[in-house]
Amino acid sequence: MKSFPLEPIEKASIDELRTLQLERLRWSLKHAYENSPVYKAKFDAAGVHPDDCKSLADLAKFPFTTKSDLRENYPFGMFAVPRDQVVRVHASSGTTGKPTVVGYTAKDIDTWAGVVARSIRAAGARPGDMAHISYGYGLFTGGMGAHYGAEKLGLTVVPFGGGQTEKQIQLIQDFKPDIIMVTPSYMLAIADEIERMGLTANSTSLRIGIFGAEPWTNEMRSAIEARMGIDAVDIYGLSEVMGPGVASECVETKDGPTIWEDHFYPEIIDPDTGEPVADGEQGELVFTSLTKEALPIIRYRTRDLTRLLPGTARTMRRMEKITGRSDDMMIIRGVNVFPTQIEELILKRVELSPHYQCVLTREGPMDNLKVAVETAPGIDPESAEARAAAKQLQYEIKIHVGSSVEIDLRGEGGIERSVGKARRVVDLRKK
Ligand code: DLL
Repeated sequence: MKSFPLEPIEKASIDELRTLQLERLRWSLKHAYENSPVYKAKFDAAGVHPDDCKSLADLAKFPFTTKSDLRENYPFGMFAVPRDQVVRVHASSGTTGKPTVVGYTAKDIDTWAGVVARSIRAAGARPGDMAHISYGYGLFTGGMGAHYGAEKLGLTVVPFGGGQTEKQIQLIQDFKPDIIMVTPSYMLAIADEIERMGLTANSTSLRIGIFGAEPWTNEMRSAIEARMGIDAVDIYGLSEVMGPGVASECVETKDGPTIWEDHFYPEIIDPDTGEPVADGEQGELVFTSLTKEALPIIRYRTRDLTRLLPGTARTMRRMEKITGRSDDMMIIRGVNVFPTQIEELILKRVELSPHYQCVLTREGPMDNLKVAVETAPGIDPESAEARAAAKQLQYEIKIHVGSSVEIDLRGEGGIERSVGKARRVVDLRKK
């Protein structure tokens, strides 16, 4: 088996890293300004010029980029290279309106494969391992992003994509992959199906799961690890910034994704004022690409809420596991609630399964939250033990989250299964 040592930058000193970042940041701002009329207009309107960036802190002078900038310039209006240098596009569907289109030059694809390879290696994979990829292929960045990274690391790739759960399991049994790359919610659906087929989930060949594309808690990590007999690590990313592999967890610490800061410069801002906050403080994650050619992204507001933490397994900073997206935040009688807070509490009850949804309804002026959750296999939702578990969950949500919610217990299969990102919030208020 070939060895695959860390890249020098993963072990560089903070000074070396900051020097490289500043040099790359200045290039990226200049590239955006000179080659993308949209960025030029935005910088001019804000009265800033790339030459004003003399230190990393100067980045805060530059305007934010949001999803609406990409939508308004649909499809290719923000690209900073001629279209014939764009070798690939991806798009994210979003819930309404036009998709957000992103583009990559050949060099961008190589950079992306490099950060994903680094992520897969950080998860404990080695060249020669086999990776089963169940992220969707197509316009979504998950499948192809994982695929190119796995190939670059020297793995044998099984490009399955989402869906056809029974067939996925058959190939896992027959090919004996070491690694699975999939959303955590679809991993659970696969585990259910393995058990339904009369097999034991923790006796597959899988050693490592690389899970992302949606929020998932440490409690979910423990549940999946115990059930599948694997190490479960968190991979983070978003199409506007690159795709999967913007940040990823190191298996030796499992303490939040390490941000691959040599390519993506992170900031945390107060989502209300837009002001940067100090490392360690909660807020909205903002990214600036440092090396991207086709679609430089300057201060992109991710809407993801987290905080920046010092490096542990690597020099680069980590982000705390995402607690939620501001889009998924529910306000129930004045209390902010995220699905991950509910998830944590559901996973404490053995009588309940990790399949759940938060259903919002409105009665008069009041918003109501109903937590729909499946009981664990073999437990009747009507049984006394299930009802006691629901009561306990309701109590814990009241105590720990501060909201009065209703619990809707469902039997096996009562919550829709997704083959990609799970829909955690179902909003029936507008209907
Ligand atoms: O979900 C890219 C990806 C694919 C990441 C596969 C990891 C694995 P988008 O479809 O553009 O891209 O969605 C990006 O998904 O802003 C977060 O809200 C959420 N997200 C992605 N990874 C994580 C994660 C891909 N590890 C949006 N934890 C992001 C929590 C995540 N949320």
